[in-house]
This record gives sequence, C-alpha cells and structure tokens, in this order.
Amino acid sequence: MLKTEQLLQWYKQNYRELPWRESRDPYRIWISEIMLQQTTVTAVKPFYERFLKRFSTVKKLANAPLGDVLEYWSGLGYYSRARNLHKAAQEIAVHDFPKSYQKLIELSGFGPYTARAVASFAFSEPVGVLDGNVIRFLSRYHAKKVEWWRPSERAKLQVLADEWVQGFDSHDVNQALIEIGATICVAQNPRCLSCPLMKTCASVGTPNVHLLPLKKSRKENEIWLWQIDVFSNEGKYAFVQNRPDKNSLPVLKNDWVWPGTAKRVMSVPKTFDFKHAVTHHNIYVSVVRKNSRLAKFKQEDVKWLKQSDIKKINPTSLINKAFSYL
Ligand code: ADE
Repeated sequence: MLKTEQLLQWYKQNYRELPWRESRDPYRIWISEIMLQQTTVTAVKPFYERFLKRFSTVKKLANAPLGDVLEYWSGLGYYSRARNLHKAAQEIAVHDFPKSYQKLIELSGFGPYTARAVASFAFSEPVGVLDGNVIRFLSRYHAKKVEWWRPSERAKLQVLADEWVQGFDSHDVNQALIEIGATICVAQNPRCLSCPLMKTCASVGTPNVHLLPLKKSRKENEIWLWQIDVFSNEGKYAFVQNRPDKNSLPVLKNDWVWPGTAKRVMSVPKTFDFKHAVTHHNIYVSVVRKNSRLAKFKQEDVKWLKQSDIKKINPTSLINKAFSYL
C-alpha cells in the first residue's frame, strides 16, 4: 500500500470530529483556519460556534460593523487578524468566494497557508498545507533538517507536502496530515508505536525524533517604556493610531491607542504604573493625565472615545489595564 493510502486508512478510523470538518463551505473553513492560527483546537471551538452564529455568511460578516467583529474576536487576541477578516469579507462579498490558491492569496490577510488551506479543504485543489503539525510530521518522516521559518527552506517542505496530495483528494490528505501531527507525531513523546507510517519513517528510533523539527531560537525579551498621555473630556478620551515609527509602541501596530511615546530600554525602570507583557515585549507603562485643553492633535488624527467605544475598537487587555489604573 502507498504511504498516502496508509495515512488515509488510519485517518478514517481515528479522526476527531471537529465542527469545521463537517463543512466544505469556504467561508466556514476560512474562519476556522484563521482562528486555529491563534490558539488550540479546544480553545477555538466555542469561539467558532459563537462567531458563526452571529456572522453566519460572508455577506453578514461584510455588512457588520467592525466593532461587532472585534467584540466576537475578543479573547482570541491579535486583532489585526479580525480586521483583515472583515476587510477580506467585504472583498469577497462583492464577487464570489475565489476558488483557487492563486485568487485566494490576493485577499487581505490570506497568506500562503490560509490560501492553500481554503483551496484544499473547500475545493480539493491539489496543494499541500504546512501548519505546525504538518511541518513536524514531514520533518521527521522524511528526516529533513529544514529551517522551516525561512521561506526558502520552508519551500522544501512545501514540495514534499504537495507531493503527498498528488493523485488523492487533497482535502482528506491534508486533514490527515494535520491529524497525525496533532495526535501521533506530537512535539513531546511522539507515539511512534501507534503510527500507521512507522515502518517507512526515516526518523523512528533515531535521535531525529527529538531533534526534529529544528527549533527556532527564541527571541530575546525586550524591555519597553511607554508613557501614555491621557487627555479626557466629558467621559471621552483621546486616542490616536499607533503609526509605526521609532517612538511608537512595537506592538498593536495601526491600532487605536493612547497618545504617548515608547522607547526601548536596557533595564526595568524603577517607576512605572503597570506592566504588560505581549509576545517577547515587556512593556512598562506610566500614565500621565493631561489637561485636554492643551491637546494639540490634528483633528483627523484623533478619535475622542468613551471607554466602552475603545473596548470595541481595540479590546486588548493593555487598554483595559490602563482603565483599571485610571
Ligand atoms: N489546525 C489547523 N487547521 C486545522 C484543521 N483543519 N483541523 C485541525 N487542526 C487544525
């Protein structure tokens, strides 16, 4: 039996029933894939159901106010993904759902992974999908020491992933590859004895099982100081968009945040009002209340928002923490 046939036979008997696996609807598949880029299958399930109840079609998502979309995203984090989702929904609603990798990748927020996942899971296009699970499985099965985080190296795994689906329904093969990576070929203590492909795996019984996939070295933690200037007027606060420049916060790019200045420092400051950690950034925030009559903003650059409004536009815990402090 071919390796792909063995994989598919195993998958048929062992797959987990997941809400997005019941559907070939590109919209529902797309939403699941974006959510799954944020967190685990278990954590995604309740968000997924709730999101699709509220935005049951791509048209409903396109026509919804952005604030509602962000509210239903709240808890998943990384709001630029939700913003792109909304934008892409508007692009799709005008035409129809694009049906190929080449067309899908032109949409906002569709990278190579998402475009391939939708092309394969909804339309069975014969393209391989490389998520963390598949990268782990392929690196070990083929004993490839590939620096998968570099595009040129990742392309080598993409070639292998594409080969796996040739001659089969790519929907089934890709789901099965994800599944074997998620449940058998797991990061710690892989269950090689239960693996349907043990006999042909190039790494089984060798140190490669533990050494692969290669590990990306962790980014060094950075310490940042962020002074925020709180201008308030009749229950409203001034917010500006976090434009990337050398004095801006390195996270929450293009999000609406308090005005202020950010700088990277080498040691933890002695005084600050609260701390916030996001990715490898430790941000020490000091809050300065400002007299709003002195606010010198260009009118088009500033939004005066109530606490409940900003929570909809940028519902990050950083903003919440600042409000608790105030
Ligand atoms: N992770 C990414 N995509 C997935 C899918 N379709 N099923 C399970 N886990 C996944």
